[in-house]
Amino acid sequence: MAGPGDPDPHAVPQPRAGSGYERPARQEGEPGPATGRSAVPERSPQPPATGYPTGGQDDPHRRPAPSPRPHPSAPASPPPTGRPSTPARATASVTPVSGAPAASDGAPSTGSSSPSPGPRPDTPAPGAGGYGEEAGVDAYVSRETPSREEDDPPLAMEAMRAVQILNPSGEVTMPRPARPRIMCVANQKGGVGKTTTTVNLAVALALHGNRVLVVDLDPQGNASTGLNVPHHAGIPDVYDCLIDNVPLAEVAQAVEGIPNLWCVPATIDLAGAEIELVSVVARESRLARAIAAHPEKFDYVFIDCPPSLGLLTVNALVAAQEVLIPIQCEYYALEGLNQLINNINLVKQHLNPTLDVSTILLTMYDRRTRLADAVEQDVRNHFGDKVLQAVIPRNVRVSEAPSYGQSVMTYDPGSRGATSYFEAAQEIAERGVKLGGAA
Ligand SMILES: Nc1ncnc2c1ncn2[C@@H]1O[C@H](COP(=O)(O)OP(=O)(O)O)[C@@H](O)[C@H]1O
Ligand SMILES: [Mg+2]
Repeated sequence: MAGPGDPDPHAVPQPRAGSGYERPARQEGEPGPATGRSAVPERSPQPPATGYPTGGQDDPHRRPAPSPRPHPSAPASPPPTGRPSTPARATASVTPVSGAPAASDGAPSTGSSSPSPGPRPDTPAPGAGGYGEEAGVDAYVSRETPSREEDDPPLAMEAMRAVQILNPSGEVTMPRPARPRIMCVANQKGGVGKTTTTVNLAVALALHGNRVLVVDLDPQGNASTGLNVPHHAGIPDVYDCLIDNVPLAEVAQAVEGIPNLWCVPATIDLAGAEIELVSVVARESRLARAIAAHPEKFDYVFIDCPPSLGLLTVNALVAAQEVLIPIQCEYYALEGLNQLINNINLVKQHLNPTLDVSTILLTMYDRRTRLADAVEQDVRNHFGDKVLQAVIPRNVRVSEAPSYGQSVMTYDPGSRGATSYFEAAQEIAERGVKLGGAA
């Protein structure tokens, strides 16, 4: 194990004096690690909430479609402010970074430079065909529209609309990999975008024909919430797979409205797993076994890790072939990364020799700060081509989407958040083909 003083080639650079880290601020949106939580509450045996996915939309096991379920914390009606008709620009006191992504919170989410209100610029041109042609521009009505909720099209239509807006010409493909790719989304810091990245990459890939499974391995169940998958106490969840050897097939739920996407939810029961795992046999490889025993073949399995380096994260690292590390473009972004890399190396040495940190994604990039640019430069210098070209900007649509039980891909497909995650998913798919060919 490389100690802090060793010249570890994987050592992560620490913030340098005078490197542009001028604003020692960060936003942490998440409570602390899941470890140390109290024991698991008494569980009553429940039948599986859904059958297991055996196919796409026609799967008879798909659970009946519930109506969109706003998060309890969500407002009862559509967002009160919605997309501003006049873009909120950066104040004069901040310096734009050249070449940075072109959107920030409050900016129009369509990516258009035109500030004028009116039909969304991302509306497919007449004659583009598909859903847009049939439904006309009304289908692209802004979420400011008060009647938006009443007029909500079925969720499947939302998915079609998202594809139409994100990929209007249809020329972007996300080829399926020849072999399933199991990706662990890890970073022991909370609030860096692990869950947001998991949910949005999974939806983007599923919308483009990949069969995707999301395993929610965080007792907070944020990925389950973001995908609108029931995960209240008593729902069969990943805890049952880890502790009671229940097959993944019995707990995976089809994600409503997104073909080819399933989720193994996390309930609060998972909070006790970190402690209970200590005394079970093969405690580090419970998840690996559950995924390996899985009869289904997925193209992608994304494992959303908790913000800790405990046994749950170790299980994810043992089950995965690849690690995807989201790095928030903030002052403390690189702190603690050494610890994560050291843990990954330990798992590699002892439990999973083929594990590879394949992908780094920069999240919450704020083009108004030189700090974000400095973090990006440091991360690119250190990790080289592991860092995706796509960078996820800080974008208010991304943070609003989960309260509607949606990814930003379907919530506001024209937003910078959605287009950036779309680009990131495309890069990941292309890399998968380079690694091992297409299906
Ligand atoms: N690109 C983004 N722009 C704005 N808010 C974001 C963005 N990515 C994530 N967030 C918000 O930041 C918070 C933390 O993100 P989350 O994905 O839950 O992090 P983690 O899973 O690493 O703890 C959430 O409230 C989320 O909505
Ligand atoms: Mg999370």
